[in-house]
Amino acid sequence: MKDVKGLKRVAIAGFGVVGRGLAKALVTKKDVLIKRAGDYRIAAICDSKGGIYSEEGVDVFEAIRIKEKEGRLPEELTVEDIIDRIDILFECTPTNVETGEPGLSHIKLALENGVDVITSNKGPLVVGYKELMKTAKKTGAKLMYEATVGGAMPIIKLVKNELAGNEVLSIKGILNGTCNYILSRMEQEKMPYSQILSEAQELGIAEADPTYDVEGIDAAAKLVILANSLMNSNATFSDVERTGISSITPEAFEIAAMKGYTIRLIAEATRDELRVSPRLVPFNSPLCVYGTLNAALIQTDLAGEVVVMGRGAGSSETASAMLSDFVELSRCGSK
Ligand SMILES: NC(=O)c1ccc[n+]([C@@H]2O[C@H](COP(=O)([O-])OP(=O)(O)OC[C@H]3O[C@@H](n4cnc5c(N)ncnc54)[C@H](OP(=O)(O)O)[C@@H]3O)[C@@H](O)[C@H]2O)c1
Repeated sequence: MKDVKGLKRVAIAGFGVVGRGLAKALVTKKDVLIKRAGDYRIAAICDSKGGIYSEEGVDVFEAIRIKEKEGRLPEELTVEDIIDRIDILFECTPTNVETGEPGLSHIKLALENGVDVITSNKGPLVVGYKELMKTAKKTGAKLMYEATVGGAMPIIKLVKNELAGNEVLSIKGILNGTCNYILSRMEQEKMPYSQILSEAQELGIAEADPTYDVEGIDAAAKLVILANSLMNSNATFSDVERTGISSITPEAFEIAAMKGYTIRLIAEATRDELRVSPRLVPFNSPLCVYGTLNAALIQTDLAGEVVVMGRGAGSSETASAMLSDFVELSRCGSK
């Protein structure tokens, strides 16, 4: 697949917060990445309205300048148009947990064509994990998705690689930074939910429509991915029992604190259930984290309890996870 010089040709689908952060990191970290993953160039970038392609490699900073000025990339180009001219697709389009689209079609097409995929998009994995893995197995292409859960917090490859040989008995964690930020501030400042939410929206920590985060949808999607990929479950989104954080009051924190607890949105996967809900968390628990941090407690049969923590979202944090997949791909034999 690779071109005559042995360069890997990569493309980025989705040129928003994640796509742009990733593109910059692929340029600024090139010296280090070449040593670990081999040489590469960014052959194409697509957004929802167009794209940009260059056999010699796209000028990323020029593409960002155009995108920020014009609101779109200049050429009429879609992922379908460039799939036979690339070796690796970075898929960073918006998450849709109901249809998985547009990412599901992009990833299917790539895997069917033997193109490796690295994605930050939860939707395709929530909707079609087993099917995508089957396609990948058939064609020998790889599907990597560390960035879909926990941002920079390493959890998927940690379990698959460092804890290989263990059975994961349960995973319990804080998987949504926006909810954790709101709940942390409610705990510390005794302010009502609605006031903190508006401030979080002003700071860009919460979306204008925060439903995805505060109703636990984002955390539930991540839980399905963890259960299916690390616990060999066959879970769907509707299997998750889900309660959001919008009805929690500052008084609830006061009552909890008197007994040594705080309240956090906890996502938990066991053999028997998948649940996302606000739960009491002891102040001395590793899951009592503050701000936009994510944390997870992984219960295994051999290693016992393993705890991870890290920044759950953000442009450079998500790029960090995608680059770790990029390096891993070359270690496990990108085609
Ligand atoms: N932001 C984070 O911190 C973070 C962290 C982890 C995972 N994620 C996940 O990563 C993905 C990207 O997040 P984001 O924050 O970068 O979202 P975003 O800023 O909304 O960017 C999404 C990008 O996808 C493009 N797009 C939409 N439909 C497309 C299509 N059919 N073909 C090609 N491009 C298309 C959009 O194009 P236009 O620019 O033309 O609208 C936009 O450039 C999401 O699935 C998200 O859940 C995000």
